[in-house]
Amino acid sequence: MLTQAVQLAKKTIPRRHRWLLRARRRHGSWFLRTPDRRLLEGKIIPYFAGLRGVRRVLDIGCDWYTAGYPRLFPTQQYCSIDIDPEKAHFARGEHRVASLLELDQHMEAASVDLVIANGVFGWGVDGRADISLAMRQIERVLRADGCVVVGWNDTDERRPDPLAEILEAPGFAPFAIPNIKAASVVTDTAYRHTYHFFKKIG
Ligand SMILES: C[S@@+](CC[C@H](N)C(=O)[O-])C[C@H]1O[C@@H](n2cnc3c(N)ncnc32)[C@H](O)[C@@H]1O
Repeated sequence: MLTQAVQLAKKTIPRRHRWLLRARRRHGSWFLRTPDRRLLEGKIIPYFAGLRGVRRVLDIGCDWYTAGYPRLFPTQQYCSIDIDPEKAHFARGEHRVASLLELDQHMEAASVDLVIANGVFGWGVDGRADISLAMRQIERVLRADGCVVVGWNDTDERRPDPLAEILEAPGFAPFAIPNIKAASVVTDTAYRHTYHFFKKIG
């Protein structure tokens, strides 16, 4: 019944408004209503936002469905970066229009406790050299013991290549977060959205 209603809505709602079918509104912001987002927003972010040592967060890449993310970090300083100037109006608070690959030109070393790099690898940061450079930039901006959440689609079109540049990046160790009890998780989505958690070491 629900599937039929969605199919009918898809045919009758103009294309430019169809994103509403995947959206839900909460606390004045729009969020995506997909299992990977529910996991990120309902478990992963709340875990990190509840850690006393997490005071400053850098989110890489923004869109309409991340505009509410600063509210998920109520006691933290939330900042973001996106290479695309057209995404800047989705950003709330401290935002930089710049490439992750040039992060050292925009943010102090060891100035952030948590980096969220969701949907960036495979969506603009690709190939051995750039993935490796991006991981080095993330390592540099993190404080000692800081963490990074990396999320990507595990599909042939979007899987970061080579994945090893992320999974075996020097300076990081896999970090199992307690409320998931694992250092990685594949979500129940057609695009097999996958999260990995790492802690900066050394
Ligand atoms: C699929 S969206 C992901 C948005 C968001 N991070 C999320 O949780 O879904 C990819 C975003 O990464 C941005 N992006 C791609 N390459 C980038 C780079 N080198 N530096 C910063 N942002 C980049 C794009 O402009 C786009 O807004």
